[in-house]
Amino acid sequence: MEPIKDSTGNPTKKLAINATDHQVRELLAQMTLEEKVGQMVQIDYSLIGTPDYLLKDSPVDRQKLELAISKYHVGSILNAPMSPDNKAQPVAFWQRITAAIQQASTNSRLKIPVLYGIDAIHGATYTQGATLFPQAISMAATFNTELSFKEGEITARELRASGLPWNFSPVMDIGRQALWPRLWETYGEDVHLATTLGTAFIKGHQGSDFSKPDKAATCLKHYVGYSFPINGKDRTPAWIGERMLREYFLPAFEAGIKAGAPSVMVNSAEVDGIPGHANHHYLTTILRGEMGFKGFTVSDWEDIERLYTRDKLAASPREAVKIAVLAGVDMSMVPFDFSFYDLLLDLVRSGEVPEARIDEAVSRILSVKFQLGLFEPQQPPLPIDTHFATPEAQAINLQAAHEAIVLAKNDHGILPLPKSADIFVTGPTANLLSALNGGWTITWQGDNESLYPHNKLTVLGALQQQTSGIIGYRQGSSFDAEVDISKAVAEASKHAVILLCLGEKPYTETPGNISSLELPAAQNKLAEAMLATGKPVILLILGGRPRIITSIAEQASGVLLGFLPGMEGGRAIADILYGAYNPDGKLPISYPRSSNGHTLYDYKPIESFDSNTYHPLYPFGHGLSYSSFATSGLTVASPRIKTGESVHVSVNVHNTGKLKGKETVLLYLHDVAASVTRPNRQLKAFKKVALEAGQSERLEFTLTPQDLSFIGVDLKRIVEPGDFELFVGTEKAKFTLTE
Ligand code: BGC
Repeated sequence: MEPIKDSTGNPTKKLAINATDHQVRELLAQMTLEEKVGQMVQIDYSLIGTPDYLLKDSPVDRQKLELAISKYHVGSILNAPMSPDNKAQPVAFWQRITAAIQQASTNSRLKIPVLYGIDAIHGATYTQGATLFPQAISMAATFNTELSFKEGEITARELRASGLPWNFSPVMDIGRQALWPRLWETYGEDVHLATTLGTAFIKGHQGSDFSKPDKAATCLKHYVGYSFPINGKDRTPAWIGERMLREYFLPAFEAGIKAGAPSVMVNSAEVDGIPGHANHHYLTTILRGEMGFKGFTVSDWEDIERLYTRDKLAASPREAVKIAVLAGVDMSMVPFDFSFYDLLLDLVRSGEVPEARIDEAVSRILSVKFQLGLFEPQQPPLPIDTHFATPEAQAINLQAAHEAIVLAKNDHGILPLPKSADIFVTGPTANLLSALNGGWTITWQGDNESLYPHNKLTVLGALQQQTSGIIGYRQGSSFDAEVDISKAVAEASKHAVILLCLGEKPYTETPGNISSLELPAAQNKLAEAMLATGKPVILLILGGRPRIITSIAEQASGVLLGFLPGMEGGRAIADILYGAYNPDGKLPISYPRSSNGHTLYDYKPIESFDSNTYHPLYPFGHGLSYSSFATSGLTVASPRIKTGESVHVSVNVHNTGKLKGKETVLLYLHDVAASVTRPNRQLKAFKKVALEAGQSERLEFTLTPQDLSFIGVDLKRIVEPGDFELFVGTEKAKFTLTE
C-alpha cells in the first residue's frame, strides 16, 4: 500500500500513523475470527523447527510451519532452537528461518507477516559472533547515555542483519532487591538513571522509524513490579503499595512508552496478590488509560496457563485465558502448543470474551507489523561485513566495558600496576569469558564456556597479552568448591602482588536463585589464604549481584567491581589494571556491607533515625579514578522559584589530578518537608565529562516541575511548595518553591 503523503509529497509522521490505522481497519475487516485469534498466538521455534541434526540444512519443517500459519494463523514466533541447548546460530541460519516464515505467510490467505521476537539482552544474544555489550547493570555503571544509545543502535543493526525485527529488551524494572537473580538485567536501583539509560537504548534501537533496515522494535519488560520480590527469588510475590509503584516502578515504563517502545511484556510474577497477567488495573486502567500506551502487550513465558497451573487464580486453563485477555494481555507467549488459540476461540464463540476485545488486541499487533514495514516487500538483509560485529562496534563495546568497571578502593595508589609487574592471578572468574558475560549470552543461562568465541580474552588472557613482566596462575577455587588452594598459596608466595578474581557463575531467572548474598565458602577460603600470604591483594569481583566481600575488601589493597562487562571485559580490566585506561565507572546500586544490608541510597528519614544508618560497603555513585576531581560553586539561579517554573543549577567540576579522565557529576534533590515522607536524596540529573589534568568546566542543569514532584496522599503526582536542597559532591545549595 502506498504511504500517504502530505501536500509537499513527503510522508509525514502524523499522516503515516493515520495511514497505519486505515490499513489496520481495512485488513481487520477482511479477517475471520480464527485469523484474528491466531494473531494473538506466539509459539516457540520448536513448533516449526526441524530436529537438531537437520538444523544446518533446513532449519524449518515446512509441514509444521504450514500448520502453524495456515491452520492456526499464528501471529508471532520466538526463541532459538532449544535442543540440545538454545544456542546462538549463524546469521545465515536466521536469515533462512525468517525467509521461510516470510514465504509461508505470503502464501497464506491474507499474507499477514509473522513477527519474530528474540531476547537480545546485551546485543544479539542468539546470533553467533554478535557484539555482546556489558549487561545493563554494567551499562548503568558507565553513567553514559550516549553509550547506551549506541548499544541500542548496534544491537538493532545486528538483529536486523539476522532478519530479526523485534527485541525483548530493554528491562525497565528497577533493581531494588539485590538477591533477585535478574538484578543485573536492570539499570540498578535508581529511577532516574534507569529511565535515562533505558530510553537512550530505545532511541538508538528504533531511531525515528523502526521500519528502517537497520532498526528494530523494542519491548519494555516486565510490566510491572517483577523486580521487587520480597524473598528475593525469581517469580515470587512482590508487595508494592500503589504509591511505591507509582514513585519507583512505573516511571521508567512511562518514559519507555514516550520514547516509542511499541510493545510491553507482562510481569511473570504477582504484586499484592494479583498475578501480572490478571491485573486489569495495571494492564488496562494504568497502562492504557493513564499512560496512553498504543502498542501491544505480550505475556511472558507460559504465564497465562500458569494462572491455572501455578497461581490457582483460574479454575481451568480456559478460565486463565479469559482472565488474561480481559485483563489486557494482547498476545500469549504460549509457547509449546496451540491451546490458547482453541480456548480463546471457544470463549469468543460462547460470548464470554467479546469480539471487540479481540479486534482491539489484533489491531494493536497489526499496527506494529505495519509500522515495522513487514507488509512491504522485504529488502535483502543488510550486508554482514558492514553491519555485523564491525571493528567500529567492537571499539564502542570496548569503550563501554572500560567505562563500566568501578574502581572501589585503591590504597596508596597500588593501581595502576606497571606492565613489568609480577602478578599472581587466582580465583574462579579469572579465566572464564562466561564470568564476564553472564546469562543471555549465546545460550539462555550463558554458562556454556565451550561455545564462547576463541578470539575474545578472559582477564587472565588479557593480562598475559599485555604484560612485560610475569603472570602466574592457579585457579584455587571453582565457584563453589576448593580446587588447589594450598598449591595456589605456594605459588602466590613467589610473586609480588595477587589478583584475586572472585564472583558468580552465569545465570538468569529461577536457576539463579540464592538464599544469601554471602560468597560460597570455597571462595572465602581462597581469599583468606591469599590475604594470609601478606602479599598485597587486589580483589576483582564479577557477577550479576553484589556478593558480600566486606572482610576481603577491608584487607585488600585494591578493589575492582566488574559486574558483567561483556565480551571486551577482560581487555578492559587489564587496561585498567595497567593504567592504559583511567577508570570512571560509578556504582548504579548501593553495595551492601552485609547480606541483609538492604538500605538503598534514597532511603527515607526513618531509615537513618535513632540507630538506623545507610552504611553500605560502597554507596550508590561511588567510583574512583587514577586522577582526582572536585566540584565547587554549586549555584541555583534563583533562590525562590514559582510553582510550575524550572530550576536552573550550575556547578564547576575540576580535574585536580595529574591525568586526564572522565567524571560523572551527580545532582541530587531533597524535599525538606512534605505531606508524604521524602527520600534523603534522589538523583535528578547527571553529566559525564572528559577533562584534561587541571581542566575545569562549568556544568548547567535544569530541573523541571516534574523533577520536584512526588506521589501525594491521594496517589496523584503533585508538587508542594516549600524548601528544597540540592547536593553535588560535598556541595549543598537551597531554594524555596513558592505558590
Ligand atoms: C523471561 C523473559 C523473556 C522470555 C522469552 C521469559 O522466561 O522472563 O524475560 O523475554 O522468557 O525468552
